[in-house]
Amino acid sequence: MEWSMQHLISATQFTNINDLYELFNEAELLRCLHASDQSIDFLNGKIVATAFYERSTRTRLSFEAAAHLMGAKVISETSESSSVGKGERIEDSIRTISQYAKLVVMRHPSIESVQSAANFSYCPVINGGNGNGEHPTQALLDLYTVWHQRTDFEKGFNIMFCGDLANGRPIHSWMHFIRQLLADKVTVYLAPATGLKLPVNLRTGVNIVDMSEKDIIHFLPTMDVVYMTRIQKERMGGHRGADPNPLYFDYFKMRPSHMVLMKNNGMVLHPLPRNEEIHSDCDTDHRALYHTVQVTNGLYARMAMLRRLLNGQLFAHSSKGNNLEKCSAMTVVG
Ligand code: NCD
Repeated sequence: MEWSMQHLISATQFTNINDLYELFNEAELLRCLHASDQSIDFLNGKIVATAFYERSTRTRLSFEAAAHLMGAKVISETSESSSVGKGERIEDSIRTISQYAKLVVMRHPSIESVQSAANFSYCPVINGGNGNGEHPTQALLDLYTVWHQRTDFEKGFNIMFCGDLANGRPIHSWMHFIRQLLADKVTVYLAPATGLKLPVNLRTGVNIVDMSEKDIIHFLPTMDVVYMTRIQKERMGGHRGADPNPLYFDYFKMRPSHMVLMKNNGMVLHPLPRNEEIHSDCDTDHRALYHTVQVTNGLYARMAMLRRLLNGQLFAHSSKGNNLEKCSAMTVVG
């Protein structure tokens, strides 16, 4: 194993905001080069692997598209195709996959999985979602979208998180980023579905306003970002987080009448997939970025993540970036 190898497992690895700005600037550069038909073949001759043991559309395909666009070849496996279905331990699978590829993007339903895989990997591992733990690359592309849209990003912003805050792993990574890098700049407004609150350990060190349903309407006109999430039914009933309970389906649903209350330069983001939490009539509103800007930004942000991780630059300014021993995300409590 190379001594300098870096993995991207948790948002807690970022301790210096300059690592975010350098990533965002690199994503911008890649966007410009790509738009002007210049070569972005930075991964030419390399193989990138995706190992997704849980469903995915955007995370897997955007990483694969990002790798292809930069000239890499992509190999992939899913829970249906994998020997994990024959009882192989994830540590054993990664030992093999990481000798075929220069980098592995992995998603797994268990919280501990991705860190354990990284411990046995011969190449860098990116966390594409570990159970209801974290989803750092989604939060990074979301932050890039906010930065991209707002010339005054550095002054701070108000963000409202809605829906399944217990299981929404992109929000868990967001909370780490805010606590570590933006604590004095960002105020977080929480609108959880009944019974699906943010884990208490993620509240520490963040400026939080807890809202009731009627507060949501009151605060919407002051929001810069409204971040919607679906109720993660697949994690309920036996899985960590929640039991199936009809109350969990009592949550704020965005309608066009809500969107018009928002600032003209406000934005509605969603990691997708969307269920009932945003009415499709909202999709044409210029503040609805989830099917457009956020998706495109995801591609460029993930290109930049691949390139910087492979170059050992992703945590250039963050002392904790290397040698991550135990992620705080691994101890999410309700
Ligand atoms: C999210 C995920 O998988 O955590 N989706 C995604 O990666 N784009 C959110 C979700 O599944 O609801």
